[in-house]
Amino acid sequence: MDAAALQQTIYNFPELRTPRLLLRRLRMEDADDIFAYASDPPMTRFVFWEPHRTLDDTREYLQRTLQGYADGLPPCWGIQHLGEGVVIGGCAFHEVSAMNLRGEIGYALARKYWGQGLMTEAVRAMLDYGFNTLQLNRIEARCDVENTASWRVMEKVGMKFEGVLRQNIMLHGRARDARMYAILREERSGCNK
Ligand SMILES: CC(C)(COP(=O)(O)OP(=O)(O)OC[C@H]1O[C@@H](n2cnc3c(N)ncnc32)[C@H](O)[C@@H]1OP(=O)(O)O)[C@@H](O)C(=O)NCCC(=O)NCCS
Repeated sequence: MDAAALQQTIYNFPELRTPRLLLRRLRMEDADDIFAYASDPPMTRFVFWEPHRTLDDTREYLQRTLQGYADGLPPCWGIQHLGEGVVIGGCAFHEVSAMNLRGEIGYALARKYWGQGLMTEAVRAMLDYGFNTLQLNRIEARCDVENTASWRVMEKVGMKFEGVLRQNIMLHGRARDARMYAILREERSGCNK
């Protein structure tokens, strides 16, 4: 797929379904659900953004996200719990390189839902999309060296640990070492080679 076709594919990114989750575009009406977890300081310890203080912070985030959809930025999904009908987190391709057929993913989930394998389920769906639809060759993820839950998700979906990148990420004003993980197309079973 050439760069123009990849951009068009990204622009039209679809909903993804898993047994327990619907990954879909966010909407302004999701503000209350998102504020409920994005305002929770322990949940934001390892993410790039500060906890939302007011619903207006959440609305601004949603405005930026909706603008990103209009501008054709890489996919950013809200994670809706199918059983409960609420948005419980988000996941995204932060970056897609058409030149290198490479993408980087990130994710966050409301604290109440941790430890049930939900993000592992969501990330598997993102990898399928990245390899099968975007036709990427390599999908990466990185996290703070102390974010065990995050790198366990990476391990569980078959990503390989590639090393520690020194002071690679800025988290809440501090330069932090990051663990880098990636999975290659040739390591992925079930995708269209
Ligand atoms: C990281 C995060 C998305 C994981 O989501 P989740 O749905 O709880 O993940 P899963 O249940 O699929 O898997 C988590 C794994 O980490 C393990 N884990 C969690 N905390 C752990 C800890 N402190 N020490 C060791 N293992 C831990 C769990 O036991 C589980 O592994 P297992 O299935 O082998 O038992 C969630 O914790 C989160 O949103 N954290 C805050 C935001 C964040 O850090 N995002 C990532 C930024 S890089």
